[in-house]
Amino acid sequence: MDKPIVTSGLEKIYREGTVEVSAVAGVDLELNEGEIVGLFGPSGSGKTTLLSILGCILRPTRGSLRIYGTEVTGMTEAQLPTIRKRYISFIFQGFNLFPALTAHENIMLALKLKGITGTPAEEKSIAILETVGLGQRMHFLPRDMSGGQRQRVAVARALSVDSPLILADEPTGNLDHENGRNVMELLRTLATEQKKCVVVATHDNRIEDIFDRTMVMEDGRIIKEMRGSS
Ligand SMILES: Nc1ncnc2c1ncn2[C@@H]1O[C@H](COP(=O)(O)OP(=O)(O)OP(=O)(O)O)[C@@H](O)[C@H]1O
Ligand SMILES: [Mg+2]
Repeated sequence: MDKPIVTSGLEKIYREGTVEVSAVAGVDLELNEGEIVGLFGPSGSGKTTLLSILGCILRPTRGSLRIYGTEVTGMTEAQLPTIRKRYISFIFQGFNLFPALTAHENIMLALKLKGITGTPAEEKSIAILETVGLGQRMHFLPRDMSGGQRQRVAVARALSVDSPLILADEPTGNLDHENGRNVMELLRTLATEQKKCVVVATHDNRIEDIFDRTMVMEDGRIIKEMRGSS
């Protein structure tokens, strides 16, 4: 069985005029089914960049990325959506909710893109919004919700589509301790019970005990890796 993610020598260089920023500077990773991995590191260390590459949202400058055994770095723009649709759920640092759609409609749209419509989609959306504590807010627009509630809609949307690979960028960043804990417990359960591979970029040391493995990034490199305590 191929691993969800295998990378070698992954690099991303951003070029702004004559200035080059090496945001990811040689990352070798192997991520397994059923594990939840925490990606720590100071602001600007490359967490979002690395996660975006793993999610096939951003192309690396160099190196290899295999998703369930398929090398994706050589793929065309037309081929990548198929990989994302089949394997990847991404929870964005800035939520990326559609502002004109309610919480429920945002989730229904994500399900539709996966080919799930009608009553099964309705039921799934309602169930998942209740799981994240937003049953009462399902018909609210993003602008009428707090930052934490919007974050939970983004999490609910990513969970609803049932991908084997869940990549979450600061999913607890706008949540109080209890809601942050709930979201992380949910991600933990998905790894343990549904054998998903979950990667979480975070600053939040309070959730460190959730992870099977933690990695610390600095200047685009993974400088430390630890097996979790849980
Ligand atoms: N589109 C871009 N163009 C140029 N440089 C960028 C771009 N995106 C990120 N960078 C730079 O790459 C480096 C890594 O940024 P990245 O967003 O991956 O960090 P991060 O670890 O996610 O930080 P944070 O914890 O603040 O979210 C930073 O120095 C940043 O300024
Ligand atoms: Mg970031």
